[in-house]
Amino acid sequence: MIKYDFDKTVDRKNTNCVKHDLTSLFFGCTDLLPMWIADMDIAIPDFICEAVKNRAEHPVYGYSFFGESYYANFIHWMYKRHGLKIEKEWICFSPGVVPALNMSVLTFSKPNDKVVIQPPVYPPFFNAVSDHDRQLTQNHLRLEGTAYTMDFDDLESQIDANTSMLILCNPHNPIGRAWTEKELLTLVGICEKNNICLVSDEIHSDFIRPPHKHNSLLSLTDKTIACFSPSKTFNLAGMSTSMIVIPDQTLREKYLHTLNGLHIAFGNLFGSIATEAAYGQGEEWYKQLWDYLQANIDYVVQFCKANIPQIKVMPSDASYLLWLDCRGLSANGEKLQEIFTENLKLGLNNGSEFGKNGEGFMRMNVACPRKTLEEAMQRLRCLANFIA
Ligand SMILES: Cc1ncc(COP(=O)(O)O)c(C=O)c1O
Repeated sequence: MIKYDFDKTVDRKNTNCVKHDLTSLFFGCTDLLPMWIADMDIAIPDFICEAVKNRAEHPVYGYSFFGESYYANFIHWMYKRHGLKIEKEWICFSPGVVPALNMSVLTFSKPNDKVVIQPPVYPPFFNAVSDHDRQLTQNHLRLEGTAYTMDFDDLESQIDANTSMLILCNPHNPIGRAWTEKELLTLVGICEKNNICLVSDEIHSDFIRPPHKHNSLLSLTDKTIACFSPSKTFNLAGMSTSMIVIPDQTLREKYLHTLNGLHIAFGNLFGSIATEAAYGQGEEWYKQLWDYLQANIDYVVQFCKANIPQIKVMPSDASYLLWLDCRGLSANGEKLQEIFTENLKLGLNNGSEFGKNGEGFMRMNVACPRKTLEEAMQRLRCLANFIA
């Protein structure tokens, strides 16, 4: 069996890479260690590069469509990983999960409708609602001690006749919860009772820490739009290829009407090649990668406990994004950002980007070689020099 080497660092500078090449735009400086946007500083496996190179050698890059293996490999992956039986015809294209959220808002709600999100949550969820003149309705997650839960009473109190959609993050970025079947069934029940369309962003679903498991909304209801992508699992965000699974024919036809109306349903050639190779050949690479990333998570947890007890790493069921509770530090969100960026030279996402109840937290991406992470933790250790 091949042993993959995730310790190998990759120089991503000067590759038009958002994480490394746009730090001056996002952080106002170029000399910081970027641990923010959710892609990995880890090379993709050779078999994906080879598949893309092979196709690139054919000298015509004309209009293309998704081949049989593209669908078959994804269907097989979803069955093997999550026990989900997906039919080929349920699988629709989107150039990304975020575009799919936006298309869903346009398709399944009307201007001025209420669309619910559950902050703290991935920032584009806010824009997917407010950019289309829908009413942003915030059903804040409840935090007790270190446990985030959904606040169903608050949700029911905010629902009215104008509420047409809820966008679920499953598992939830940034707080790292893998929602339980019981929680999701309650949510589905509330949405069905009130005729609310449930869109489920499941982009992080391959990265779940045992004993937790991924409970796809697809296993609980047919009436959902469930969004998947190889972009997190295989580091293919630049390939702009996502799979939107819609079992219900009526919902699917409506989604496809929007997609086809934008004339983007054919996708892109190299995205489909990379996706097909990833799901077809990627199981062993993915398993070793996830072991490596979980060891990174454990390393950060232990390091903070031993050396930076002012920062509490929130328990993480899922994803390579850690949610750091910095509320014990005597600095508000803006000051915290300044210290991280200017003093520690670390580029993390400020918790306030994820909603008001994210204030006092920082989000850290640990999908990098261990050496990079060690450097980041040494920098973070100096926090005490700048803050009480
Ligand atoms: C929850 C969630 N959804 C969607 C995305 C991005 O999806 P895409 O690049 O496919 O639009 C991310 C990336 O960080 C994410 O965390």
